[in-house]
Amino acid sequence: MTIALFSHCSNWKFIPRQMKKAGTQALRAKITGVVGIIVFLSGMSASMLPAQTASTPSTPAQTTSSATASTRDGVYTAEQAQQGKTLYTQLCIECHGASLEGMGQNPSLTGDDFLNNWQGQTLADLFTRIRTTMPALKPGSLTPAETALLVAYILDANTFPSGKTVLPADPVPLKAIHIDAPQAKP
Ligand code: HEC
Repeated sequence: MTIALFSHCSNWKFIPRQMKKAGTQALRAKITGVVGIIVFLSGMSASMLPAQTASTPSTPAQTTSSATASTRDGVYTAEQAQQGKTLYTQLCIECHGASLEGMGQNPSLTGDDFLNNWQGQTLADLFTRIRTTMPALKPGSLTPAETALLVAYILDANTFPSGKTVLPADPVPLKAIHIDAPQAKP
C-alpha cells in the first residue's frame, strides 16, 4: 500500500528532502511491522502445531528387527527332517516318489520345477498348502506338527541346510521365512 502510494506520486522529486526521508522511514517501519507480524504468526502456528508432532511416538527399534529369514538360514533341525522322511514314506511316497521326483500327474517336490513354483513365497504358504490339500486323497488329515516335519524333509531334500532352530508348526512365524534358492546365484 505504502509503496503504491509513493510510486504514484508523480512529483516525488519536488517533495522536500525532510518529507522524503520521513516517508522512507515510515515505509521501513511498515515493512518491519509486517515482517514482525509474519514472524509472530508463524511463531504462533509453530507453537500450536508441535503438540501433534511431539506426541508421535518414536518408532521402536524392534519393528525392524523382525527382519525376514530365508530357507538358507538353517531353519529346521536334522531330526525333524528325519522324522519327516518317515512320515513321507507312509503318506506321500506312493504319489511323489522315493526321491520326491514326482510321477505322472503328481508333481516333483524337489529341484528346479518345485523351487520355481515356490521361490518368493514363504514357508507359511508351503505349510498351508500341504496341510490343507495333502495327502491328495485325504486332505486336512495332517496335524500342524506332522506338516512341519514334512516341510523340514522337503527342505532337506532340496539341499537347504539344517540348523539348531526347530521349524515351528505354526504358519504365523513361518510367514517370516522366505523360500529362496538353496544357494545364492553367482
Ligand atoms: C494320491 C496322490 C498324492 C499323495 C498321497 C500326496 N500327494 Fe501331494 N500332490 C499330488 C498331486 C496330484 C498334486 C498336484 C495337484 C494338487 O495340488 O492337487 C500334489 C501337489 C503337492 C504339492 C505342491 C507341489 C507344487 O509344486 O505346487 C506338495 C507340496 C505336495 N503335494 C506335498 C505332499 C505331501 C507332503 C504329501 C504327503 C503328506 C503328499 N503330497 C501326498 C498327489 C499326491
